Amino acid sequence: MGLEYINGFSKLNAAQKVELLTDATDLDQVQKLLNDFKLDNQETQKIFESFSENTISNFHLPYGIAPNFLVDGSLYHVPMAVEESSVVAAAAKSAKFWYDKGGFQTVFLKKIKTGQIHFTFDGPKELLLSYLETIKHDLYQSVKDLTKRMEARNGGIREIKLIDKRKDLQNYYQLMVTFDTADSMGANFINSCLETMGQRLQEFMLSKPDLQKYSFEIIMAILSNYTPESIIRMKVETTLDELDDIAHETDGVTFAQKFHKAVEIARQDVFRATTHNKGIMNGADAVVIATGNDFRAVEAAAHAYAARNGSYASLSECFLDGNTFRYELELPLSIGTVGGLTSLHPLAALSIKLLGDPAADELMKVIAASALANNFGALRSLVTEGIQKGHMKLHLDNILLKYNATQEEHKKAKAYFADRKVSYANVKAFLDEQRK
Ligand code: MEV
Repeated sequence: MGLEYINGFSKLNAAQKVELLTDATDLDQVQKLLNDFKLDNQETQKIFESFSENTISNFHLPYGIAPNFLVDGSLYHVPMAVEESSVVAAAAKSAKFWYDKGGFQTVFLKKIKTGQIHFTFDGPKELLLSYLETIKHDLYQSVKDLTKRMEARNGGIREIKLIDKRKDLQNYYQLMVTFDTADSMGANFINSCLETMGQRLQEFMLSKPDLQKYSFEIIMAILSNYTPESIIRMKVETTLDELDDIAHETDGVTFAQKFHKAVEIARQDVFRATTHNKGIMNGADAVVIATGNDFRAVEAAAHAYAARNGSYASLSECFLDGNTFRYELELPLSIGTVGGLTSLHPLAALSIKLLGDPAADELMKVIAASALANNFGALRSLVTEGIQKGHMKLHLDNILLKYNATQEEHKKAKAYFADRKVSYANVKAFLDEQRK
């Protein structure tokens, strides 16, 4: 069937949407599949559909718990939403390993976010500067209604700065505005403030005869997802002897040196750094998603930060100092524990509850701990037995599940594949043989 341009798709109901997308012959099957993934509870289903547009079903992710994270002396059983096998297992294994070694510890944490009003002005900069304090005062006033509630939660606008960007682009300036959004991620708050301030700036520029003479244009007003001031540095630390039992056939010193080298490679080489950071984001995103936060924002900030020195590098760093092994991760994080999906999505709300209703900075710590745990777990496997062994164990479980293997078949398959290559074809052949 050739595709045709669809007019007014958003106005159709879900059944009509599906009908348009599907061959009439398998319509019933598709409809059944889509319905199977909808919730029985109509009210909650409606809430889900309201999150996005043109919704025809729900797309599920496994929701699991990585228990026993000790973070700054507090214990967390961390909810994770992730489809990749081994991620939750790696987090749990690392959490267990670090539990009796002081756990995960915050080195520093900052929580300031930035937004920008981008504009062009072709008059003299001195003229702009002569009005700057009045403009700033006016802009603060213009958003008083918006900031009042945020200020009651100890947030608000922290600073407005004029940045001269004319070296980069003709007549281009920014008003760089910094915000503390308390326990919310704050994207809507920031964007509302910026758009209101942009309008006020426009009015101001048009109200002064000496400014009117020049061309002035607001290009856009929007938050920045680059958040180098909303950031956490998290560490784990132990002695080299404590690493003695981490892998068969390696002592702590050998393990630590090899681990250190692996991290240095990720600090030098972009191909490795990208994979290394992907392993970090495995742990971060799963908690970010489980708590209803915006993982695209977190991803964008992380990778921009990884390239802050001009070349893309590892977000984590390993230090060997005498008998001490220290592993640290620096991760920009813009997340919240109130507002947005955090309360609207029932499972996100549950995650927040399971974590003990944390403030945003506390959730930043948990996310960073999970990120560091996953990264440590991945490197620990990579420099010892490799990742495929653990991966394949879970892969085998998934394949057996797909072929509805019985408990007995599971047991036999585990023994059979202990030293054989796991693949769909091989597992299917094994089961076929068993079922003859
Ligand atoms: C897989 O999702 C993540 C790893 O590739 C990370 C890494 O190589 O460090 C295991």
